[in-house]
Amino acid sequence: MRLILLGPPGAGKGTQAQRIVETHGIPQLSTGDMLRAAVAAQTEVGKRAKAVMDAGKLVSDEIVIAIVSERIDQPDCANGFILDGFPRTLVQADATEQMLAAKGLDLPTVIELKVDDEVLTERIAGRYTCANCGTGYHDDNLKPKVEGVCDKCGSTHFKRRPDDNRDTVVARLQTYYKETSPLIGYYYAKGKLQSVDGMADIDTVTADIEKILAKL
Ligand code: AP5
Ligand code: MG
Repeated sequence: MRLILLGPPGAGKGTQAQRIVETHGIPQLSTGDMLRAAVAAQTEVGKRAKAVMDAGKLVSDEIVIAIVSERIDQPDCANGFILDGFPRTLVQADATEQMLAAKGLDLPTVIELKVDDEVLTERIAGRYTCANCGTGYHDDNLKPKVEGVCDKCGSTHFKRRPDDNRDTVVARLQTYYKETSPLIGYYYAKGKLQSVDGMADIDTVTADIEKILAKL
């Protein structure tokens, strides 16, 4: 099973991808997570990406396509994968099609998470993750069962993303509408688009996604 999760910042792509990983055993390929790892490791790519990410703009197509192309060749992607935050431009969408065609694979199903802008800002402002295992939480919407302790790994260390501030969120939303939202029409025209109401609570969104996956 190959999927693309499409939606604006804070729509719930990462949250739902983590659940699909657990239910279906295919890896989550988040270009945002991969770029943040490159920034943390201070690689050449990380050094080039940091300022762009902090400004809420997109890292170059060339860099991101190279990262994904290398990643989908790994053995754990043989039975499928979830693309979270990629493709994000029409150039990346074309590259995705070519990468998969070269492996004899069809286009993935694209699941669009639709969420109103005002809600996105609240979600991003309240988001934090476990510093050890990366499990995602929210100050109000998704708290650990025991306060201050990660449900999954028991760590007591959490972190927030440097681009999760209100100013950068505005820039990220503008970037989304300009560069990424054209992909909705692109995949609709190819008969690959499925839309989900991402305004619903997290479990309802998961259930709606599962209904789509059951039909694949
Ligand atoms: P990336 O990391 O992909 O960020 P993003 O697209 O802005 O999306 P987010 O991760 O902010 O949101 P999400 O949809 O994953 O929401 P989440 O599930 O966490 O990219 C970061 C940067 O890297 C980009 O700005 C760019 O610079 C660069 N980059 C990445 N990919 C690139 C590419 N392909 N090309 C070029 N540059 C690229 O949910 C948010 C919060 O809401 C959480 O706290 C969660 O608990 C909560 N929540 C989730 N769902 C619900 C719900 N249904 N109800 C209530 N709360 C919910
Ligand atoms: Mg994410």
